Amino acid sequence: MQDLGKNMQAITDGISREDWELVEKAASQVADHPQPPFGEKVRILGFVGTNVSKFKGYDGETHDAAHILGEVAAEKNGYGVVSAFSALQNTCLACHQSFRKSFQEHFYGQR
Ligand code: HEC
Repeated sequence: MQDLGKNMQAITDGISREDWELVEKAASQVADHPQPPFGEKVRILGFVGTNVSKFKGYDGETHDAAHILGEVAAEKNGYGVVSAFSALQNTCLACHQSFRKSFQEHFYGQR
């Protein structure tokens, strides 16, 4: 997740500079973000429990949106990149709004 945050910053930076190659590269890293280590994945999915399909659905939407962003960046379509990026951010936000708070309470204790 921290790497995802960094890649999103790289995309913003790429948009500002109209560096579409940078955007494309960072988008592909978001699209193919590594799965967490096995033990962590088991813990996460165990916690998500009956919501697992909802959780995976959000993950899939993020992958798809990142792929679209990469394609639009490859076409050097600046306005398209901005709107695809905002669509991507919506997919991050959707999962965070549903899951972040309960995850943090469960795994790290209340903040
Ligand atoms: C399928 C659900 C899901 C999707 C999709 C998702 N996240 Fe997350 N993310 C989480 C959860 C759950 C947490 C809270 C747990 C944690 O902090 O490890 C989190 C936490 C984070 C954090 C904070 C990590 C930290 O160290 O505090 C960042 C940054 C982040 N996500 C970035 C992103 C970005 C960028 C995207 C979209 C490209 C994204 N996430 C998409 C579930 C998701």
